[in-house]
Amino acid sequence: MMIGQPGWAAYAMPRSLQRALNGLFVASLVLTLAVVMGSGAPVSGRDASIVAALSVLLAATYTVGFVGPARRAGSRRREVPVPSVGTARVNPGRALRWLGTMTVVWACLMAFSAGFSWLGFPLFALYVQLLPLRLAIPAVALGTAVVVTAKEAQAGGLEVSQVAGPVLGALIATLTVLGYQSLHRESQARQALIHELVVTRDALADSQREAGRLAERQRLAREIHDTVAQGLSSVIMLLRSTDAVLPPDASLARERAAQAIEVATANLDECRRFLYELSPPPLDETPLPEALRRLVDRSASDGLGTAFHLHGEPYPLGAESDVALLRLTQEALANVRGHAHAATCVVSLCYLDGRVTLDVFDDGKGFDPELPPQDSRSGFGLHGMRQRIEGLGGALTVESAIGEGTAVAASLPMPLGGTS
Ligand SMILES: Nc1ncnc2c1ncn2[C@@H]1O[C@H](COP(=O)(O)OP(=O)(O)OP(=O)(O)O)[C@@H](O)[C@H]1O
Ligand SMILES: [Mg+2]
Repeated sequence: MMIGQPGWAAYAMPRSLQRALNGLFVASLVLTLAVVMGSGAPVSGRDASIVAALSVLLAATYTVGFVGPARRAGSRRREVPVPSVGTARVNPGRALRWLGTMTVVWACLMAFSAGFSWLGFPLFALYVQLLPLRLAIPAVALGTAVVVTAKEAQAGGLEVSQVAGPVLGALIATLTVLGYQSLHRESQARQALIHELVVTRDALADSQREAGRLAERQRLAREIHDTVAQGLSSVIMLLRSTDAVLPPDASLARERAAQAIEVATANLDECRRFLYELSPPPLDETPLPEALRRLVDRSASDGLGTAFHLHGEPYPLGAESDVALLRLTQEALANVRGHAHAATCVVSLCYLDGRVTLDVFDDGKGFDPELPPQDSRSGFGLHGMRQRIEGLGGALTVESAIGEGTAVAASLPMPLGGTS
């Protein structure tokens, strides 16, 4: 019989309750011994030795319950009758044997003196804490009966107070532990709720930070576009117009103007590339599959046929994942156009249970992904893709071979709280 069955204490005993019970047990035992075995006390002679031995046995049994027996070789976890916080699990068989032994020893002590009835209080509290209520209530009733019988035997008769006292004590012990348990459960539920709220708040703060970051990048991109990029375009236009106004023999000036146009065009290209990196892709209100479909359609040209396939039921991935997948597709398509000499390029987006995958496949000339790029100033595309995808907990693979086309495959985990 293991814990987890209905009614058995499924959680460790709170440390505060354990300390209170220990204190109560020790105080009850010491005080009772002082009263029943002190000078002029009712128990003396041989009986006193038996009572002392039984008291030691009771204290030892009680301690074993909390400390537990020595760990058996090979057993991974300690199993003790009373699990202290987070260190062990309850073994109901042991709990029953432990409580049963203590009850028998206590009942023997009660046979010598009803003064030991004080020990009933921590014992009853343990019944209620550890046993299912259907066992705890009869156990408390039985213990109360032991107390009442002992008191009757000691007094030689039964008065109302001798019944009412133990019954009231048993009731208080039972209700105290039940009340404590319910408070403990409530505080645990509250802690779980607070944890959930903290997680949600952090997620919200993250998404707000991300939105702020994207907005700032957009603003920067606009500024650069409206100042530097526009300015360079004007410079290029003006330089081109010089050709018409220069005298026919000003060949040196023409040559310099051509060089200036070249430099300015290269800079404008750089600037556009920078803008492209900075500004978030045109996702705004567009769902990712739709944005990808448009991008793939736009990438078709005379020499390159493109197709987009969607599999599965789309679910929201979050702005960061959307942007990463769109950027990846943009870069992969740019690579196809720039390097592959392909006839066809197929982009597939697939929503699986718990994962989303994106594949960009072309039937172009392929390359050896193991070799470093020939031009040391390039090679950032695939590297950037991998960084982005891995930064989101996903994985990127590039499969290619000379003459066999290229397949770029990214897979991202479903965001927390998402539904498949
Ligand atoms: N679809 C493809 N077909 C053939 N070769 C490819 C393909 N994709 C990438 N490559 C090869 O891999 C190299 C690295 O690609 P990557 O995108 O990292 O850099 P890049 O395109 O050369 O430069 P950039 O940094 O501007 O992206 C390319 O130079 C090219 O040789
Ligand atoms: Mg590239």
